[in-house]
Amino acid sequence: MTGIMPDQINQTIGEQEEMYQNIIEYSLETIVIHVDYNILYINESGTDFFRAPKQAIIGGNILSVFQPSSHDMIKKRIQKAMTEGVLSPLIEEKIIRADGTVVETELYCRPVTYGNRKVMQSVFRDISVRKEAEKMLKNREKLASVGQIAAGIVHEVKNPLTAVKGFLQLLKESHSHPYLQTMENELDKALMTLQNLLQVSKPDLQDEPLIPIDFCKELQSLMLLFQDKLYNVEVEMDLRNPGSRILGKKNLYLKAFFNLIKNALEAIHEKGKIKISHYCDNQWVYIKVADTGVGVPEEKLSMLGTPFFSSKSDGTGLGLTQVYTTIHEHGGHISVESRLGEGTTFSIRLPISH
Ligand SMILES: Nc1ncnc2c1ncn2[C@@H]1O[C@H](COP(=O)(O)OP(=O)(O)O)[C@@H](O)[C@H]1O
Ligand SMILES: [Mg+2]
Repeated sequence: MTGIMPDQINQTIGEQEEMYQNIIEYSLETIVIHVDYNILYINESGTDFFRAPKQAIIGGNILSVFQPSSHDMIKKRIQKAMTEGVLSPLIEEKIIRADGTVVETELYCRPVTYGNRKVMQSVFRDISVRKEAEKMLKNREKLASVGQIAAGIVHEVKNPLTAVKGFLQLLKESHSHPYLQTMENELDKALMTLQNLLQVSKPDLQDEPLIPIDFCKELQSLMLLFQDKLYNVEVEMDLRNPGSRILGKKNLYLKAFFNLIKNALEAIHEKGKIKISHYCDNQWVYIKVADTGVGVPEEKLSMLGTPFFSSKSDGTGLGLTQVYTTIHEHGGHISVESRLGEGTTFSIRLPISH
């Protein structure tokens, strides 16, 4: 007689059970089973996610991974899901890991029956990469809109100022007064500032042709321009993958990297080091400009790139605006990491041309 024997059925069920257990145990998402906030089980991903061994997590209180301000809300969600027996919808929360770091997380929970016990299953997903991308996009939009506003104001203000300058020149011809020249000089400064602002906030106005650029070569030549400023500064050039090319507006790019290197040098007050690195993969060229200078306070980081934001007494606050708009105009990404008193690193990624 052919067919499936009871033993085989049991074996198949056993195998299936093991398979399902493995699916949960090795799921890429962190899965936690808890009852009355008491953690009964955590899968393999959970040890990475919470940065603690399983034994340290099991037996703990699920609420302890949430910020105290969220405890009431989380309790309510768990209670509601438990009593109504339904999935509680996705939320985003900041989760505190065992080492004290905080991770942006997406999570949901649902009641499940485990043997004859009703327990809660919570699923945690790390969304820090997505959050970072969203933040960058927002920042980029903010900068773009500031740029638009700035360019609009420049147009509006430049015309009347140019007219004033014309009348001033006429006045100078018919009258002589020592203040007239001072007025004209000041007016010229204002016009120059406006012109700079227009240039840096709207680089697409520049109709430079797109040409292939080898950044390894260009970065080396750029550094030569700073030779006289490198007295107390050690420079390390880690330039890999020479010969890789990027299609772009060369002058805009050179100006951008000039601005970054200039800032790095200005951030080093006594002795220090600047490291410029370049490497690429199939898609992108990565360039980093790192310094061991004064650093940027955390609350100021989001201001970088905003026109006129400067901490220097003689700064214009237009350098980074030019950098950010140039990188964005070429479809690239720029991010900055900084620690006060330790240094700053600007990381740039530019699409490679094949
Ligand atoms: N490498 C750096 N290290 C520390 N601070 C920096 C660095 N780069 C830029 N900054 C900060 O960003 C501000 C704006 O830079 P930027 O737009 O080039 O204007 P400026 O150099 O004229 O001040 C600087 O004043 C400084 O506070
Ligand atoms: Mg600058």
